Amino acid sequence: MEKTNQTLGEFIIENQESFQYSSGELSRLINSIRLAAKVVNHEVNKAGLVDITGAAGEQNIQGEQQQKLDVYANETFIQTLINREIVCGIASEENDNYITIQGHNEKHNNKYVVLMDPLDGSSNIDVNVSVGTIFSIYRRVTPEGTPVEMEDFLQPGNKQVAAGYIIYGTSTMLVYTTGCGVNGFTLNPAIGTYYLSHPNMQFPEDGNIYSINEGNYVHFPQGVKDYIKYCQAEEGDRPYTSRYIGSLVSDFHRNMIKGGIYMYPKSAKASNGKLRLLYECNPMAFLAEQAGGKASNGFQRILDIKPTELHQRAPFFCGSKNMVEKAEEFMQAAD
Ligand code: AHG
Ligand code: MN
Ligand code: MN
Ligand code: MN
Repeated sequence: MEKTNQTLGEFIIENQESFQYSSGELSRLINSIRLAAKVVNHEVNKAGLVDITGAAGEQNIQGEQQQKLDVYANETFIQTLINREIVCGIASEENDNYITIQGHNEKHNNKYVVLMDPLDGSSNIDVNVSVGTIFSIYRRVTPEGTPVEMEDFLQPGNKQVAAGYIIYGTSTMLVYTTGCGVNGFTLNPAIGTYYLSHPNMQFPEDGNIYSINEGNYVHFPQGVKDYIKYCQAEEGDRPYTSRYIGSLVSDFHRNMIKGGIYMYPKSAKASNGKLRLLYECNPMAFLAEQAGGKASNGFQRILDIKPTELHQRAPFFCGSKNMVEKAEEFMQAAD
């Protein structure tokens, strides 16, 4: 019989052995993320009551106005990970450069680096719409005992050992993978515990939702315009439904449950689209594949792209396998 009351803490312990490196360190790392997520959740939930909405007054390296919650979430996740001395480095959407963490006795002997989007969908904070946090975890490639280097962060997504997101929605959920499927845990805020509510999450192979910022239509490549027209044509189960929240985590989460495709293509204005390969595309692509879905830049598997820069962007087509393959067909036909 399937368990219905398993907590995230119990799940991590029970599944530790199935993880290929099984050192306990990754479990501690996910535990730290779960803790930081509770703190951020608390702050997000009272955003309308305290002075935490609105712009923080600075621009980040992406050229975006940082919101107060971007800064708060960034500091909370970084500080929680530093305090626990379990990672050797962190890279974040909100920081120009990666952070080196010396760890216990300043020996640089922790194995993992974390890359993150601390607050995803931050333009939605002030209007009370779901936001999220995205994280991506790799083993370092440079020798332990030395400070981390750029190459530890510039690994292709297929080297991720874990990835996940937290969605601060109607309920707060933590969804993650260590390469053995995707599991979702819902926070019971009354007691501060996450319970396994969505075991073995799977993208439906097909779907009827497409998610894209259609306001940019005139700037899209011809393949995307053709695919949008295909989604809107009256034939078979089409026209599809259009749903776009404007926060990747929320759009992805809905599409994984209901079946759909998320697209952020390149455009005449942004040659690689908007989403960040390391903090957004790679972790979502790992989750998508682990849930039977697909993620591509229109021509190539996202997880096989070799990054060259920390804040690099990539066009992103992600979701139900058959829908992503159809979008790729249109992209390649118009190329
Ligand atoms: P972030 O808030 O972390 O900067 O990410 C915003 C991203 C993503 O979450 C969302 O899907 C997309 O930007 C929305 O962009 P547009 O407003 O251009 O559609
Ligand atoms: Mn941002
Ligand atoms: Mn984001
Ligand atoms: Mn962000």
